[in-house]
Amino acid sequence: MSLWGCSACEWLFPNCSLFLSLFLTGAAQFAVQSQNLVADNVSVVEGETAIISCRVKNNDDSVIQLLNPNRQTIYFKDVRPLKDARFQLVNFSENELRVALSNVSLSDEGRYVCQLYTDPPQEAYADITVLIPPGNPIIESREDIVSEGNETEITCTSIGSKPAATIRWMKGDKELPGRSKVEVTYDRMYTVTSWLKLTVAREDDGVPVVCIVDHPAVKDFQAQKYLEVLYKPEVKIVVEFPVGLTREGENLELTCQIKGKPEPQQVNWVKVDDDVPSHAVITGPDLFIENLNKSYNGTYRCVASNSVGESYDDYILYVYDALTTTLKPTTTTTTTTISATTSPPDIIQDAAPSTEAAAHDSRAGAEAQRSVDHAVIGGVVAVVVFAMLCLLIVLGRYFARHKGTYFTHEAKGADDAADADTAIINAEGGHNNSDEKKEYYI
Ligand SMILES: *[C@@H]1O[C@H](CO)[C@@H](O)[C@H](O)[C@H]1NC(C)=O
Ligand SMILES: *[C@@H]1O[C@H](CO)[C@@H](O)[C@H](O)[C@H]1NC(C)=O
Ligand SMILES: *[C@@H]1O[C@H](CO)[C@@H](O)[C@H](O)[C@H]1NC(C)=O
Ligand SMILES: *[C@@H]1O[C@H](CO)[C@@H](O)[C@H](O)[C@H]1NC(C)=O
Ligand SMILES: *[C@@H]1O[C@H](CO)[C@@H](O)[C@H](O)[C@H]1NC(C)=O
Ligand SMILES: *[C@@H]1O[C@H](CO)[C@@H](O)[C@H](O)[C@H]1NC(C)=O
Repeated sequence: MSLWGCSACEWLFPNCSLFLSLFLTGAAQFAVQSQNLVADNVSVVEGETAIISCRVKNNDDSVIQLLNPNRQTIYFKDVRPLKDARFQLVNFSENELRVALSNVSLSDEGRYVCQLYTDPPQEAYADITVLIPPGNPIIESREDIVSEGNETEITCTSIGSKPAATIRWMKGDKELPGRSKVEVTYDRMYTVTSWLKLTVAREDDGVPVVCIVDHPAVKDFQAQKYLEVLYKPEVKIVVEFPVGLTREGENLELTCQIKGKPEPQQVNWVKVDDDVPSHAVITGPDLFIENLNKSYNGTYRCVASNSVGESYDDYILYVYDALTTTLKPTTTTTTTTISATTSPPDIIQDAAPSTEAAAHDSRAGAEAQRSVDHAVIGGVVAVVVFAMLCLLIVLGRYFARHKGTYFTHEAKGADDAADADTAIINAEGGHNNSDEKKEYYI
């Protein structure tokens, strides 16, 4: 009983040991049901500190001890018989024995035992699991550069973790499913490999593909690779000149806008089922035709190609009658309107496949229509203004002939008078005002 070393007890009761042993034997019988020993499992990352806690509810001063997986005593109450200094007492009370184990290694894994010296003794278990984080994920793609529409495969590997990591894939902000394989290495570590197959589009060029490694020992663990996608040219014809209708004798200038990866090396202008007019000037993506002639009607095509493929855009040229020199669109809106509004419907039918030409021509028609509207509005306004001027002159003459004096007096007085009488009284005071009015109307 000297084991118990209860100095406080000895101070209170001279015959302490005897008292204690009697008390404990009696209490133990009763305590089996009511005393309650618990311990929690612990997961800890290798190298960090694990906290093992043995807790007792309603302890009646029974002794608590902690054993390692080989059932060696780590702590007996607050005394550590085991030499391993990595074990340190965190808290010792009658309700808890809490021990910290620092610099945890894989060999520390196992079932730790909390023991309570009751009769029969009670045990609770704390399983320590050591987590080993994976190495940095390795991402590799089968091809560095892929052509649009082709499939590529990206591989991500997470090496040497415990437990096995899981791998997820993101392309931009979209999650994609991969195929995974888990391997156990000789030292009981896990290596996980995941493959992502994807068919690329031109929009994927420059988009990051991210391999995300989920593991309890790491946070935000990922690797990424940017997709590099080749795509055939996108071609668009833009009319630089003229802004309005293409008329005989005028010039035509078209530009071909091209975007592709790699940058297209070749741009060609051709005329479908015909030859481009012999005097047409082609400089890179620009086509320039001077002095348009109706015989140039037809489909002009800009063709661009790169290593991935070839694309084109069409422009349908429709040459309108020339304007006679006296009927310039700026001076005679009516003439412009007639030709612009009547002709385009025919063209739109003729030139059905060319959105370029149709859009261009109808735009010109709409502009002519707008200028006509302006002319009509201008005319109406002019007539109204003229009518009002006439009315003013007629009224002016009328007031001048009647000298205007009396009328002005009444009007002036009425402005600030309550009734007709007051108005006249007020008006009498305002003779100088009436003179001014008279002068104004003459
Ligand atoms: C502790 O882990 C073991 C398996 O290692 C499990 O059987 C037991 O239920 C766990 N105990 C608690 C309290 O979670
Ligand atoms: C030890 O545990 C007791 C009871 O849970 C608590 O009151 C006390 O603050 C703890 N002491 C330390 C140093 O953690
Ligand atoms: C932790 O333990 C390892 C061996 O398991 C040892 O090499 C290392 O020096 C220890 N680190 C510290 C800070 O004690
Ligand atoms: C893409 O696929 C085509 C067949 O669809 C193939 O001819 C071409 O070589 C592939 N390109 C690359 C870069 O793999
Ligand atoms: C248009 O070309 C024809 C021959 O192709 C020619 O006879 C005619 O004079 C030309 N018209 C104009 C306005 O140049
Ligand atoms: C070109 O289009 C104009 C507009 O209608 C038409 O009058 C002319 O006959 C066309 N010329 C050719 C060669 O198709």
